Amino acid sequence: MAEVIIASDADAAGERAADEIAQLLRTKPDAVLGVATGSTPLTTWRALAARGLDLSRMQGFALDEYVGIEPGHPQSYRTVIDREVVATLGLERGQIHVPDPHGPLQSAADDYERAIVESGGVDLQILGIGSTGHLAFNEPGSSLASLTRVTMLAERTRRDNARFFDSIDDVPAHAITQGIGTILRARRLILLAFGEGKADAVAGAVEGPLTSSLPGSAIQLHPRVTVIVDEAAASRLARADYYRAAHENRPY
Ligand code: F6R
Repeated sequence: MAEVIIASDADAAGERAADEIAQLLRTKPDAVLGVATGSTPLTTWRALAARGLDLSRMQGFALDEYVGIEPGHPQSYRTVIDREVVATLGLERGQIHVPDPHGPLQSAADDYERAIVESGGVDLQILGIGSTGHLAFNEPGSSLASLTRVTMLAERTRRDNARFFDSIDDVPAHAITQGIGTILRARRLILLAFGEGKADAVAGAVEGPLTSSLPGSAIQLHPRVTVIVDEAAASRLARADYYRAAHENRPY
């Protein structure tokens, strides 16, 4: 069963996730970090930056990248990663890899999958979850064994992400994304989710049946998962009191 931590807010959750990353990097300075884009991990990157660790030997792999927007577009995940992760943590740009969506797509996806394997594999993967239940851009229906490939975004995801663009019509329809099978190969997963809009996806991922209809439920197949959520995202967890008791090490 996943360890579930119900934090007071996104800042406290970010501190907690940063603790785990910092502990990993202290024991393994050349660790490979799996990097989610989007709003959810922002408090984690800020909290990690505040630790002042030497991050010069780590490398990271982004989960995904939009297809169909020009290089340097402010919402391309390469640009977002440069702004939110590379700049915040004081890294060299080349330390964080992002799929290349500007050439032949399936060979870019295959190259990316291979690069992850050749790096020695992801030690710790930071994940967000979509309101559709997606992990990376593996929308409902994605094979739980899928590898890095081109996928189509669900309409709800495009609506959710329209906040970053001028209109929903500007949100790309496709992405190169790590597959669920790729994500499950990481040695450890930390799934973060905040806000009421994620409550159903979190409940489905943690407590629902294992199903490709809710790709986040694939975390149930992983032996080492920590789910860190705020109260609103935890609000539909049937066993919330149990998780709180387990986390505080008191009987339930
Ligand atoms: C981002 C990604 C997505 C997001 C998810 C949540 O690289 O792969 O799965 O983690 O859409 O997005 P936010 O954090 O913006 O709510």
